[in-house]
Amino acid sequence: MSVATEKRLIAKIERLKRERQAIIIAHNYQIGEIQDVADFIGDSLELSQKAAQTNAEVIVFCGVHFMAETAAVLCPNQTVLLPDLDAGCGMSEMITAAEVRALKAQHPGAVVVCYVNSSAEVKAESDICCTSSNAAKVVQSIPADREVIFIPDQFLGAHVERQTGRKLILYNGYCPTHFRIMTSELAEAKAEHPGALVLAHPECTPQVSAAADQVLSTSGICTEARKTDHSEVIVATEIGILHRLQKENPDKEFIPACKWCDCAHMKVNTLEKLLWSLEEMQFPIAVPPSVAVRAKTAIDRMLEISKAK
Ligand code: 13P
Ligand code: SF4
Repeated sequence: MSVATEKRLIAKIERLKRERQAIIIAHNYQIGEIQDVADFIGDSLELSQKAAQTNAEVIVFCGVHFMAETAAVLCPNQTVLLPDLDAGCGMSEMITAAEVRALKAQHPGAVVVCYVNSSAEVKAESDICCTSSNAAKVVQSIPADREVIFIPDQFLGAHVERQTGRKLILYNGYCPTHFRIMTSELAEAKAEHPGALVLAHPECTPQVSAAADQVLSTSGICTEARKTDHSEVIVATEIGILHRLQKENPDKEFIPACKWCDCAHMKVNTLEKLLWSLEEMQFPIAVPPSVAVRAKTAIDRMLEISKAK
């Protein structure tokens, strides 16, 4: 797209945003053009918190379906739009509500902790949600004598086990995008950049996480990248985050641990689709009230725990 076309698109998006009293929120993995036009960018927890707080009539959610659904659950009186309904999530599709019910039947009395990367139906079957930035805190809030079922991400679950020293009942879900990051490739990047700091997302395999200096949520990676004195940082997560990292830290070099760690779902949103979304008010995300009410309880519990010191 030419610079002039991009400018025209952005001007139209800005005008419609004002007319519709809309806010554009975007995940850290969105393409650079969307990050640049968004009112707010962040990780899953920050985006849920932003959705819970905003008075905007329309929330255009540039992220994936489960994120827009979480916003719709938290904002039943506002319109939540997802620019492309194909923005799914490989991990969230790995578990159904029926599978959660089966797990609960196998482990009666266990507390179900559900990573937000899941459908509203799955959240509705769960006791409490978590994100990558608060999963350990959420698990620590549960009495030590209670069994905990952790769904659906086995690798985030394994990371929480290491952080808390607690044994969890893990499900076998994982992120197909983060699964592409291989320890051999990371080792090569480390050999080429021996002084670099290595930051990884907890959706990486335990082997990749073990080779990192820190394991953090996407916004945690952005914060650490700003704070560090290292001039080179190897980043083991989805490559969309590199735009924000480079923009916020022009004097540092960011090296992807895997150049192919690209989430196709996150990348279906484009500037054109964002404009159409505002023009046509497409695609509204709604959750049936009977599901929303139960999913909201699990999300609200997480937001409460996140607020507590
Ligand atoms: P964050 O909550 O860390 O932004 O992660 C969301 C996600 O989908 C990672 O793949
Ligand atoms: Fe889902 Fe993985 Fe994409 Fe995150 S990166 S949205 S977990 S498929």
